[in-house]
Amino acid sequence: MRCEVLTLFPDLIAGLVSQSILKRAQDKGLVEIRIHNIRDFIEDRHRVADDVPYGGGCGMVMKAEPIFRALDALKTEGHDLRLILPSPQGIRFSQKLAQDFSRESRRLVWLCGHYEGVDERVHTLLQPEEISIGDYVLTGGELPALVMIDAAARLVPGVLGDPTSANEDSFSGSLLDFPHYTRPVGVRGLQVPDILLSGHHEAIRVWRRKEALRNTYLKRPDLLQFETLTEEDKQLLADITQENRAEISVNRGEEE
Ligand code: ADE
Repeated sequence: MRCEVLTLFPDLIAGLVSQSILKRAQDKGLVEIRIHNIRDFIEDRHRVADDVPYGGGCGMVMKAEPIFRALDALKTEGHDLRLILPSPQGIRFSQKLAQDFSRESRRLVWLCGHYEGVDERVHTLLQPEEISIGDYVLTGGELPALVMIDAAARLVPGVLGDPTSANEDSFSGSLLDFPHYTRPVGVRGLQVPDILLSGHHEAIRVWRRKEALRNTYLKRPDLLQFETLTEEDKQLLADITQENRAEISVNRGEEE
């Protein structure tokens, strides 16, 4: 996966991608992340990246020309580009889009807008894919770009140590994750469920499936409709509804 990030705040991006799994992914050559400072593409000597909006109003608008120039520079390298503009007006980012990015053969270019947005001519001429990470407004596109890069990079084969981890976590299917425990067995009087210590692989598989179903049923029941349920799942769900009867009726009461 090849990522280019165009930003006025390169240090924001550099700090996060130089740590932990994203760093290792780059060291292994599985993910490439290049950061470009839009300010380097400004021609005027004051290096002004933004200006007041025509028609008045508050806030500043990012100038179009430095963005065009930054993209022209990338295009001259001869690569096919897929341009993404993080924006609260975009389509909602999802695990499915993260998968899509992780398999993208073109270079993914994140254009991080700031202030009140970017000059409309950027939209008109470049037609970026606008993508939102949620219904709230952030101060800029850097955090959303990092969210998307992180979610996609961990799906690139080889990035996570154990190739099954990405398949098993929340949203890779439609279910939420099951609970995880690590050493020691007892923590402040709370014990790891016996079954996880039993070494009985099939029983552990069923326990995990049941707890993933329980988590989903209790926290995000809307997701169950997207999962193909086996006969075993249906039986497990029937058990869950019995076992969690009290909680379920409280939740229903809250909704009414
Ligand atoms: N820029 C500002 N807010 C945003 C959001 N919620 N998603 C993506 N980009 C943004």
